[in-house]
Amino acid sequence: MMVDAGGCAEQGKNIMTAAKHVNNRVRYAKKTIKKNNRSSSCKKMRREVVFPRVPEVLQQLFVSCREIFKGPANVPPASDVGKLCNILDKMKAEDVGLSKSLHFFKARGAVKGTPRVTYTTIYQCDEFSLCIFFLPEMAVIPLHNHPGMTVFSKLLLGTMHIKSYDWVDPGDTNDTIPCSQLRLARLKANDVYTAPCDTSVLYPTSGGNIHEFTAITPCAVLDVIGPPYSKEDGRDCSYYKDFPRMDHADGERRGVSEEEGEGYGWLEEIEVPDGAEMDRIEYLGPQIIQSPLFSFINIL
Ligand SMILES: [Fe+2]
Repeated sequence: MMVDAGGCAEQGKNIMTAAKHVNNRVRYAKKTIKKNNRSSSCKKMRREVVFPRVPEVLQQLFVSCREIFKGPANVPPASDVGKLCNILDKMKAEDVGLSKSLHFFKARGAVKGTPRVTYTTIYQCDEFSLCIFFLPEMAVIPLHNHPGMTVFSKLLLGTMHIKSYDWVDPGDTNDTIPCSQLRLARLKANDVYTAPCDTSVLYPTSGGNIHEFTAITPCAVLDVIGPPYSKEDGRDCSYYKDFPRMDHADGERRGVSEEEGEGYGWLEEIEVPDGAEMDRIEYLGPQIIQSPLFSFINIL
């Protein structure tokens, strides 16, 4: 799931407020400030022009990420993970310009085929990225991994089913591998989450590094990814199909009881599924301030 750095709205011109659905794609709505006639009074200008402000929590998130993510092979310590979770737990959809009441996806049935996922990038550098994924109802981000990454996921809107796995070390199991393409994984999560809910965290080898999102209702999820995907640096995204431990790809049972089979699955790496393709949109929400001067200043 490679994502690119998104563009930035020109501050003071486009005041982002929300995302909307246009031609089956979600988009941030731009509110362009109309130029007033010279006859308009300054008072009127002051009433109409609202300069976007950075929500304090979004700026805190950015500043903390810059402190915490120190590049490849660096997993943040528990204290830093707690710090980021505390910030993300406070975040609301409004902090990135989304409205709770906004119906930004068409109703189910109005979209032909599998609904496509849309994403936008708030910020990206070599150490981390801040992205929002928009999933229409029934949309799926297929089972995929995050090699060498730590990922914080904050569900901002909607209800989502999340299934996630971690690899089982081959030395920790007596299972006979049914075929060379399969690898045993431990089920970490298989639950439904509704916003607002706590932030979930996955690590390179734990916390559900391989996961799948299925939107039960239209959803928006904010991901903090450190470090971002990078094919050049060996952090490409792989996709998987999962099979129950008791019912392998060849359909034969391998003598594992139902109880033993629960909580595990066999994963087979697959080609990039059609449903993995995403549309990218420009981020027009509140813009973070990158100047170090703002590291210790409350923005609001
Ligand atoms: Fe993911």
